[in-house]
Amino acid sequence: MRRVIFNQKGGVGKSTITCNLAAISADKGLRTLVIDLDPQSNSSQYLLGRNAATFTPTIADYFDQVLQFTFNANTAKQFVHQTPFKNLFIIPASPSLEDSLTKLENRHKLYKLRCLLDKIGPFDNVFIDTPPSMNFFTQSALIATDTCLIPFDCDLFSRNAIYHLFRGVSDIRDHYNAKLRVEGVVVNQYQPSATIPKKLVDELLSEGLPIIPTFLTASIKVRESHDCALPLIHFARDHKLTIEFMRVFQTLQTNEITQPDAFRTVDFMS
Ligand SMILES: Nc1ncnc2c1ncn2[C@@H]1O[C@H](COP(=O)(O)OP(=O)(O)OP(=O)(O)O)[C@@H](O)[C@H]1O
Ligand SMILES: [Mg+2]
Repeated sequence: MRRVIFNQKGGVGKSTITCNLAAISADKGLRTLVIDLDPQSNSSQYLLGRNAATFTPTIADYFDQVLQFTFNANTAKQFVHQTPFKNLFIIPASPSLEDSLTKLENRHKLYKLRCLLDKIGPFDNVFIDTPPSMNFFTQSALIATDTCLIPFDCDLFSRNAIYHLFRGVSDIRDHYNAKLRVEGVVVNQYQPSATIPKKLVDELLSEGLPIIPTFLTASIKVRESHDCALPLIHFARDHKLTIEFMRVFQTLQTNEITQPDAFRTVDFMS
């Protein structure tokens, strides 16, 4: 299954969710790939540590080769790097991704990420981290995947913007990738004792959105695990948040998210 973690809002937990779900997937023995499409390279740093920049070639190099017509499909696997964690691989990002953005947009290379994914061989799960913007990279990811996960950070602005996100996904589905669907909304930084997060999540549920039933609580362990470049499953296996991540993963694997029939239709997202 290919999944993109997508939200135009910054800091909602895209990279954290990408890496932790991927690490759990790999820990379960599934061959798992992370693709970092954000020039900030946070997922690359989280999974590869402080010397992440030494892991080349990156996804930026792939797009450069595409622009220069030097990409050779027989060497596609060179962009995939083993992380320190068994079964977990990454195509890292680099800040230079930003430099090729306009050229890639102008030359309509939106299907090139999908082409690469089709050439690098089978993975049980692919998780794609995207930048906080609906730009070329995010669109390419939505075109290359089966489903999309939307992190929701329990904030009023995010709540107001969520239908805009669904419309963005709907546009991609209508024009480029007919099989694309929103798999679920991942509630992140949930504070059970605060009233606003509960109110906002209840509103989304009452509107029929496919909220993943396990909410990820806010914990300092996230920053500590970033600092050690160890996803939570390797940093604090028995921690409450790690168990929540494992439940979210389990829900995704078993496709247990309650989605009203209307949600899967074009009408809901248009
Ligand atoms: N469940 C959580 N508990 C506590 N802190 C969290 C949690 N999830 C994310 N954070 C913190 O929120 C910040 C943003 O997280 P992250 O970088 O994963 O978001 P992002 O959506 O990828 O950001 P960007 O849009 O900049 O790429 C980080 O400092 C991270 O430590
Ligand atoms: Mg990020």
